[in-house]
Amino acid sequence: MTVAQARCLDSALAEGHRLLMAGVPAVSVVEEAIRLLEDSGLFNAGRGSNRQLDGVRRMDASLMEGRELRAGAVASIEGIIHPIAAARLVMEKTAHVLLVGKSATQFAGYFGLARAPRMKEVRAVQPKQLRPRAGAGHTLRLHRAMLAAGRVRSRSLGKETVGAVALDQAGTVAAGASTGGVDVMLPGRVGDTPLIGCGVYADNDAGAVSMTGLGESIIRVAVAKEVSDALASGLSPVAAANRVLRKVVERVQGAAGLLVLTPDGRFAIRHSTPHMVAGIVGPDGRAIVRDRFA
Ligand code: GLY
Repeated sequence: MTVAQARCLDSALAEGHRLLMAGVPAVSVVEEAIRLLEDSGLFNAGRGSNRQLDGVRRMDASLMEGRELRAGAVASIEGIIHPIAAARLVMEKTAHVLLVGKSATQFAGYFGLARAPRMKEVRAVQPKQLRPRAGAGHTLRLHRAMLAAGRVRSRSLGKETVGAVALDQAGTVAAGASTGGVDVMLPGRVGDTPLIGCGVYADNDAGAVSMTGLGESIIRVAVAKEVSDALASGLSPVAAANRVLRKVVERVQGAAGLLVLTPDGRFAIRHSTPHMVAGIVGPDGRAIVRDRFA
């Protein structure tokens, strides 16, 4: 964890605490905290998002609240700073849960969401091999070559997906997440983050869950809903998190980290990755930020 990341998390936690104390609903607090992280450029989300193998940033985000199980999400959205705000708009302004691709980008444009500054199309993972908006044949060959060369870094050592969970004064929980995907990905690849029940879930009868880690493994275990179901069956947040993380490792050889918060204020931060940059703030306003949680 860099000093700048720690400061940014501290600020997001302080702002979240201030809003919750002022009576702001959990879903708005989660959105605001994630906006701050997207804006920072220090994480793999918003301004700091990874690029796909054709040099384009395509981002995913989702948001859910636990009182009425309302949710919104976007996948493969381009050219904006705050995919989490687009997810919120899907939830508030449409009868849908998920919008994707160019239509999601146009939807965000219609509501005037802030555009990311235009950057050179390709500032690459592999500058020589990446071609702007390259076709499927080229990116597939590049993908295979990079995987074969072992160019998939451990997610936990680089910039991570961002997420947040919150519990408001009315007793409602909310969860959200936003990401630029993984290190090496084909154009159009979508991970767990915009998939309700995989990357996020929130239910006042169980708790709120937000995921980071390798989407391909998180999706196959439907992790967020699995944790929520474990909470509903009476497991503590720590026990539920440990059980599902173990399943991700054992059944699909994956790696993930999660934030869990119950409507009665119990929480867990757990990861099967070597590190997870995260923090918590309680009702007393004291924030803790670390990059490793037992
Ligand atoms: N967990 C983020 C992703 O795999 O896209």
